[in-house]
Amino acid sequence: MSIGAWEWLKSKYSRGQSSVPPDHPCYWQTDIHSHLLPGLDDGVKTHEDSLMCIQQLVDWGITKIITTPHVSRDVFPNEAATILKQRDILQDQIEQANISVQIDVAAEYMLDDFFLSILAKGNLLSFGTERYLLIEMGWASPPRDLEQIIFQLLIDGYTPILAHPERYSYYLDNAEILQRLRELGCLFQLNWLSLTGQYGSRVSNQAQRLLKNNWVDFIGSDLHRPADLQKLGQLFTMPIYNSIANQPLRNSQL
Ligand SMILES: [Fe+2]
Repeated sequence: MSIGAWEWLKSKYSRGQSSVPPDHPCYWQTDIHSHLLPGLDDGVKTHEDSLMCIQQLVDWGITKIITTPHVSRDVFPNEAATILKQRDILQDQIEQANISVQIDVAAEYMLDDFFLSILAKGNLLSFGTERYLLIEMGWASPPRDLEQIIFQLLIDGYTPILAHPERYSYYLDNAEILQRLRELGCLFQLNWLSLTGQYGSRVSNQAQRLLKNNWVDFIGSDLHRPADLQKLGQLFTMPIYNSIANQPLRNSQL
């Protein structure tokens, strides 16, 4: 694998021009967004595929994976107990495969009626001492009461993280709304694949806008299947990779 941009970062570090430890291309160490529990959503289908994905992340420098199955009313109404049970099974598989990585689970919650019902029951899977909660919105439109939901999450002691804000077509070219969400206390998680052009040039441009504004609190692979790995690896050869080092990333604090 050619990792030109990473080599550049290493040379910058050796000259004292960067404080980023350059041991591996994924120097942020913790991945907070992926779909690596087989059978729970549209992610990996088998444990073999899951282990293949995990091994590659580890080889890139990831030491902790918080995997996040979709939770939504219409398509993936996963309960917390089911997710935790699948985590235990994956944990056993990882130990048998002798892969050195810490595995935890949370979820990628669709902001729909099902979410509001589990929020009311207080049965959400968050992570970290800040009780980070990964949320996503539908592709057609955001929920009408989005600001109210964010407010409620904050009152309940969660720190909401909006998954891939660069991908919502209704927010393309609308930095004001994204700024408003940040002012409310919502953090942003950028999909690393958005920078590689995986979702088209408009999403890529929006991702670059987030970087320009220093609005990337977390970076995530949103890894669904082994076929994504080659595309993810492309990031390390791209000049835009260097912009990640300037972000207020919290991944490594987890
Ligand atoms: Fe996802």
